[in-house]
Amino acid sequence: MSKTRLIVALDTPDLKAAEILLKKLKGLPLIYKVGSGLFTFAGPRAVDLAHKYGGKIFLDLKFHDIPNTVRNAVESAARLGVYSVSFHLSGGAEMLKAAVSLKKRPLLWGITVLTSFDEKSFSRTGFKNKIERTVFNLAALGAENGADGVVCSPREAAAVKKRFGATLQIITPGIRLEAGGDDQKRTLTPAGAASAGADFIVVGRPVLKATDPAAAVRNILEAIQ
Ligand code: C5P
Repeated sequence: MSKTRLIVALDTPDLKAAEILLKKLKGLPLIYKVGSGLFTFAGPRAVDLAHKYGGKIFLDLKFHDIPNTVRNAVESAARLGVYSVSFHLSGGAEMLKAAVSLKKRPLLWGITVLTSFDEKSFSRTGFKNKIERTVFNLAALGAENGADGVVCSPREAAAVKKRFGATLQIITPGIRLEAGGDDQKRTLTPAGAASAGADFIVVGRPVLKATDPAAAVRNILEAIQ
């Protein structure tokens, strides 16, 4: 079984706060995630900053648009030199194929069902199936059309790994040391996600809000060994 890797979300309000965090985490074996909050404010400078501190970057802008627009966005991400980008698999096969067709591109990680949904809130979106069935359908769409990985909750990771693990990397946000307390609903611990077969876990607030973020990262790394 391959080793689970840790992605830390640079969910900071600005570059200054991002750099304070990067300094604290310097030297630890991490991938950094730049998401829509920091990127909307700071743009590609956020990616440059994280690159300066070493490691790979997951650009998590969750693209969801017509095929030509998503292809252009992924092409731009390639120019930034990021390792991976996210997009919504509900954007459909044509959208994914347009991105896959690029010669030089980052890894394409498809979002299935956001980890902040529970069955009740998900039933209001218009999807007709339950969460797990929807995750499977979207993962199948990804596997059939050239996605490199699939983002799901750690609760679905074992089943998704079993069925799609040969073709798709499994990326799981929704990592909590204990359940409850915020917007993430379908959560597991770092160790739980790793033993479910996650190739990458994404952690934000449990690291960002820790009094000692480096110690929090070391504990998580130990737990996912
Ligand atoms: O703070 P927290 O650990 O909840 O951060 C999780 C990060 O992963 C956030 O940046 C969030 O945008 C991202 N993410 C997620 N669910 C997905 C994809 C990405 O929570 N399906």
